[in-house]
Amino acid sequence: MASDLRQLVYISDASYGLAKPDIESILASSRRNNAEANISGMLLYSSGVFIQALEGRPETIEGLYKTISDDRRHENVDTVSDRIVSDRSFAGWAMGFVERAPEEVSSKIGINGLLDRKEALAALSANEELATSMLRDFAENLY
Ligand SMILES: Cc1cc2nc3c(=O)[nH]c(=O)nc-3n(C[C@H](O)[C@H](O)[C@H](O)COP(=O)(O)O)c2cc1C
Repeated sequence: MASDLRQLVYISDASYGLAKPDIESILASSRRNNAEANISGMLLYSSGVFIQALEGRPETIEGLYKTISDDRRHENVDTVSDRIVSDRSFAGWAMGFVERAPEEVSSKIGINGLLDRKEALAALSANEELATSMLRDFAENLY
């Protein structure tokens, strides 16, 4: 049923000192847990900033987003979009991962940099499709 699919995107800041092995460990548990819970999504890392899309059953997303928000490996978790969709944008990815330079991200969303969180959030929130289409564009290299 279409109404049973929720897609949520947030932006956050990696905690100080977060390194490659931490991201690998986040991805390992994400892929294991998400496959089990029928969640798909994409995680973008860009010089200390995360943007993640999560999609799955509404109540499953609710619980996972709480868990993720409480994770001390990142902070300043801000919801970019949260909506019911009819199709998955990231079907087939229990959790895809892309790393891009901040200039690539900011130019995609039409801002000057990624350091100003208010500006990034405003640009991403202004268009519900923007974050997912950006993540999909970046993910195309993963096919
Ligand atoms: C940026 C970020 C993204 C995360 N994404 C997911 C995710 O998609 N799925 C997931 O299960 N855990 C995710 N986590 C990890 C959870 O916060 C939590 O540590 C994990 O679900 C615990 O499960 P485990 O005990 O099986 O490792 C993420 C954490 C961070 C910091």
